[in-house]
Amino acid sequence: MLPNEGPAPSLPAQLLHSITRRRHRVYGLIGGAFVLLAVTVWVYGGFETGIDFFTSVPRPAPPPPVPNHDASANHDAITATTHGAIDVMSGAHSSTAGAIPGPTQTETHANEHPVPDPPQETNPPTDDWRHSNHSPAASVTPGIPTKIWQILLPKKPDDRKWRADPKSLEDTASWLALNTDYTYTLVSQKGGEELVRNHFSSDPRIMQAYHNMPNVGMKSDLLRYLLLEAEGGVYTDTDTIALQPIDKWVPADLRGKVAVVVGIEFDRLDGVAWADINHWVQFCQWTIAAAPGHPLFRKMVDRIIASLDDLSALHKVPIQDLKPKSFEVMNSTGPAAFTDVVFEQLQEYNSSLKDTQDLSGMTEPQLIGDILVLPIDGFGMGQQHSHSTNDGTIPESALVKHRFNGGWRGGKRRRGEKWRA
Ligand SMILES: *[C@@H]1O[C@H](CO)[C@@H](O)[C@H](O)[C@H]1NC(C)=O
Ligand SMILES: *[C@@H]1O[C@H](CO)[C@@H](O)[C@H](O)[C@H]1NC(C)=O
Repeated sequence: MLPNEGPAPSLPAQLLHSITRRRHRVYGLIGGAFVLLAVTVWVYGGFETGIDFFTSVPRPAPPPPVPNHDASANHDAITATTHGAIDVMSGAHSSTAGAIPGPTQTETHANEHPVPDPPQETNPPTDDWRHSNHSPAASVTPGIPTKIWQILLPKKPDDRKWRADPKSLEDTASWLALNTDYTYTLVSQKGGEELVRNHFSSDPRIMQAYHNMPNVGMKSDLLRYLLLEAEGGVYTDTDTIALQPIDKWVPADLRGKVAVVVGIEFDRLDGVAWADINHWVQFCQWTIAAAPGHPLFRKMVDRIIASLDDLSALHKVPIQDLKPKSFEVMNSTGPAAFTDVVFEQLQEYNSSLKDTQDLSGMTEPQLIGDILVLPIDGFGMGQQHSHSTNDGTIPESALVKHRFNGGWRGGKRRRGEKWRA
């Protein structure tokens, strides 16, 4: 006999029936709760910018547009316009409010509405950053903005299928982890183009230099100087590891006086000269920190343009057809050229400096003018030369470790460790 034929269904069938009904009721309850949640979130504006429930209920109004010194910056899609700066004077973030991620390429790990120190009841949060001592409108401030930049360009500029390899970004996590509330931007093809167009279109030499760069490594070199001039912050190669928070880079007694931080990558000391390194002491450009608008970077860009013209004349080919050798890369866009320009700037600040050898053997950071020069371990620890700490320990003065993956530079040899003459 089938269960539903009789006047009374069997006990198992009754049970099954009631369980099914109860399950429907539970589904109904869950569904209702969802609708309620959605309505609540919507009322409080949580859907304004997508899923951001945790930081934005209730959400303060976005800050009004910056009274901008550079109108084009408003359209700068690659820029995470942070109005905060590391106040190197006090060691505190003066303000990191108002990070506005651009529509492309920009990824911010910073809390968009970081909790400011004082309670906000009496002070409208929207206006708070304006009272900061370091107004974003000032071009050269003794403050390095709380922005981290990395560059990853496709080898071929017109390669539309190109995607960044997540493996090449593994070291980036160290930068994010040690520098929470900084904005982070990975600049690629489109972002680079936009930065150059938005900030430098009035200078056709720069536009041309950027577009005519003979290879992607040199283009990345130029782009980092342009980024630091236009935006400031910290530029660092993707094969670098952060060892200390950026906030700790400037020693306490020098805070408020530093507009640029550079590190040494090579110091001849009492050793022999190396092939491809024409300075006694060479600065690295795998990591640089700067306040926006520092004159150093415009000088560097002028040097690049002059070097490309020199190379073009020497090899009798247009700039875009150059096949520069390793040293030619280093001496046009790379660390040899950067060292010339930084050292000239240092000489402007202290005319007693005659040669980079005057900086040899440094063991403590040294402030010259507004440029902080770090000793070898600052950005260059773990190398087999220059008295870099290389015994497996990480000294406290080591801020960044470079892994020397940049195999694309000019010749086959790599920079740094493998270049003994
Ligand atoms: C490096 O480049 C500069 C500018 O192009 C040039 O004047 C200088 O001779 C070069 N240095 C070497 C050692 O080739
Ligand atoms: C300038 O540089 C010289 C040579 O390195 C050094 O002896 C001197 O102390 C420096 N002057 C200042 C004011 O830092």
